[in-house]
Amino acid sequence: MIPAEAGIQNATAQRNNDVEKGSMMKFERNILCIGAGYVGGPTMAMIAYKCPQYRVTVVDINPERIRQWNSSNLPIFEPGLEEVVLACREKNLFFSTDIEKGIKEAEIIFVSVNTPTKSFGAGAGMAADLQYWEKTARQIRDCAESPKIVVEKSTLPVKTSLAMERILSGENDRVYFDVLSNPEFLAEGTAIKDLENPDRVLIGSHETKRALKAREVLVEIYSNWVDREKIITTNLWSSELSKLAANAFLAQRISSINAISALCEKTDADIGEVATAIGMDSRVGDKFLRASVGFGGSCFKKDILNLVYLCRYYGLNEVADYWEGVVRINDYQKDRFVLNMLNAMFNTLAGKRICLFGFAFKANTGDTRESPGIFIARELVEEQAELVITDPEALENARVDLKDIEQHITYLDDPYEAAEGSHAIAVLTEWELYRDLDYERIYQSMMKPAFIFDGRNILDHRRLFAMGFNVFPIGKAPLTHF
Ligand code: NAD
Ligand code: UGA
Repeated sequence: MIPAEAGIQNATAQRNNDVEKGSMMKFERNILCIGAGYVGGPTMAMIAYKCPQYRVTVVDINPERIRQWNSSNLPIFEPGLEEVVLACREKNLFFSTDIEKGIKEAEIIFVSVNTPTKSFGAGAGMAADLQYWEKTARQIRDCAESPKIVVEKSTLPVKTSLAMERILSGENDRVYFDVLSNPEFLAEGTAIKDLENPDRVLIGSHETKRALKAREVLVEIYSNWVDREKIITTNLWSSELSKLAANAFLAQRISSINAISALCEKTDADIGEVATAIGMDSRVGDKFLRASVGFGGSCFKKDILNLVYLCRYYGLNEVADYWEGVVRINDYQKDRFVLNMLNAMFNTLAGKRICLFGFAFKANTGDTRESPGIFIARELVEEQAELVITDPEALENARVDLKDIEQHITYLDDPYEAAEGSHAIAVLTEWELYRDLDYERIYQSMMKPAFIFDGRNILDHRRLFAMGFNVFPIGKAPLTHF
């Protein structure tokens, strides 16, 4: 059990008592979140969990998603999430499709809709697609009958709150809206831990007396469980830009270490040793220096491209080029991984069975958005390989992602069955379970020569080599028998 889960279970009994009492009293605040996704669901569940005195409602246009949030099978897999949701659901946490009613009743509205990369028109492939966000803003304006604090939770281009204010202030003169920016920094797979004990909470606002009052309301909500000194306040634009920049900095570290991993493979240096040596410098720090098959996830690429687009818009081409390089190196790393497989396996993959260990973009999530697995699977099928994919949580999403090439893919839950008869295994997700498999048994069941490409450097390479595998880690010399 992870510490956050243990803490949550201990606190649940006490909390249930509080909520029972809470249900008999009038709630102190009525909070709404529009968008019941990876951010809206867990974030609001944590607020409801920590603040039994508030009523929290999460709404979405997708009725199936809401049905799942109200069921025993939540729409997303996230360690510790179920305990938190079950402790509050139908007490002070509600999931609904009635957006209008939610807007009318709430005094604080979080907007947590998706802001994907635009796929059409000007800025296609770079700019943020703000259509879902704008529809929400208009709906808030049209339905509101009393003043609201509107909180941007989605990641948005800097200056979006200005547009939000303009939309909200048109046509509905009866009601005043305060717009705050409160970007979310949780990472999937550790969302509950991150929400319970965040490094910081960032709140951006204007400096007017009214805006500062609205900001204080949000500070007060978080201070129910977050130390005041961790709640930082800035102007609106700094808050919006900090979110994009934070993701760009995190992704940049991964591209930096991945770029060095390519050089390690040419020079017999070891990326693990290099990362340790770099990371022990306290000015650099040791986190986020794990070389990999490339970063994935719904946000890094989209947020960097959004940043690049903004820089070009403001004529800052050198700055744009700099950040675009982070995405270019990530694409290169995924490409390199497939080319290494092809080279190692005698320059042909046609008709070979290749087993992918993991398809989620990282461990402890079923999310496959922008997963390196999508790109790698497609490239391997392009080389006419036959794929077997196994993953403890992500197979349902993988089936959707690879629907158009499904005739070349088998999906299996059991990694032993998946590896059987394969020419190669490629580890694409760092699931703990892949460390502890019986690789002797797996080796015996595979075609020979047997290859293993460890795209996460999680396996014991020397041991695998001693068993007979040809081992290809990231950023380390390969261990081969020929
Ligand atoms: P998501 O796609 O999982 O969820 C968004 C939800 O909004 C969907 O369920 C969708 O149906 C709903 N929606 C869209 N338009 C709507 C409308 N008009 N009315 C009501 N509901 C509507 O997205 P997500 O991963 O939760 O991300 C949401 C935002 O948070 C994005 O801007 C993202 O960049 C940011 N963010 C995401 C993460 C993460 O880990 N996923 C972390 C930090 C920030
Ligand atoms: C990331 C950020 O970490 C969050 O702070 C942010 O809120 C979120 O994006 C967002 O805005 O959506 P997330 O994408 O969920 O969170 O997960 P990360 O842990 O950041 O991992 C992203 C990708 O980088 C994964 O594919 C992971 O495997 C990869 N990674 C991470 C590496 O390859 N090496 C590392 O050292 C760390």
